[in-house]
Amino acid sequence: MKIIKFDPRALDKITESFVDSFPEWSIENAKKYLMQSYLISPDFCFMAVDKDNEILGAIFSKLGTSKHGDLLIVESLQVIDRHRNNGVGKSLLKHTVNEARKNNIFSISMLSPEENIFPLSWYERIGFKKTDWIELSTTIDTIKI
Ligand SMILES: CC(C)(COP(=O)(O)OP(=O)(O)OC[C@H]1O[C@@H](n2cnc3c(N)ncnc32)[C@H](O)[C@@H]1OP(=O)(O)O)[C@@H](O)C(=O)NCCC(=O)NCCS
Repeated sequence: MKIIKFDPRALDKITESFVDSFPEWSIENAKKYLMQSYLISPDFCFMAVDKDNEILGAIFSKLGTSKHGDLLIVESLQVIDRHRNNGVGKSLLKHTVNEARKNNIFSISMLSPEENIFPLSWYERIGFKKTDWIELSTTIDTIKI
């Protein structure tokens, strides 16, 4: 397996896998979401391929800024179903962390569904910590101001 820069020609395959994992997303919105990270920070989006160049998974991150300095936000880590549990996700995340280190990025963050034990437990095991911020969201037409 090797980790290379994300190639937009792999977008359809990764989107399909993303929507399989998160069925409440439409293909169209998922593609837009992933492409937004890629367009903002193409240098921080990677994919894993095998020796025949078959796509195994991808990670999309975008650069941001926090009060402490540059921040890398992981928007999606996705491994194609049949290639899971073979170290692909770990390799993609490790590669991203190494690139962040090389670029003097201070911190790395991501959102994870709280109710799922995995991957939250895995992220915590490798050093990620829950923040004391919670996400708030609503639809525009229900705002009362
Ligand atoms: C989360 C995901 C990216 C992990 O990728 P993967 O290639 O299967 O994971 P790896 O084989 O690299 O395993 C990483 C670690 O998680 C553990 N793990 C993998 N699948 C697991 C599972 N279903 N339950 C518990 N632990 C699991 C592995 O044992 C490994 O542990 P280690 O670091 O102690 O060796 C993959 O399952 C996936 O694409 N899931 C659907 C999308 C998703 O949930 N993305 C994350 C959104 S925040």
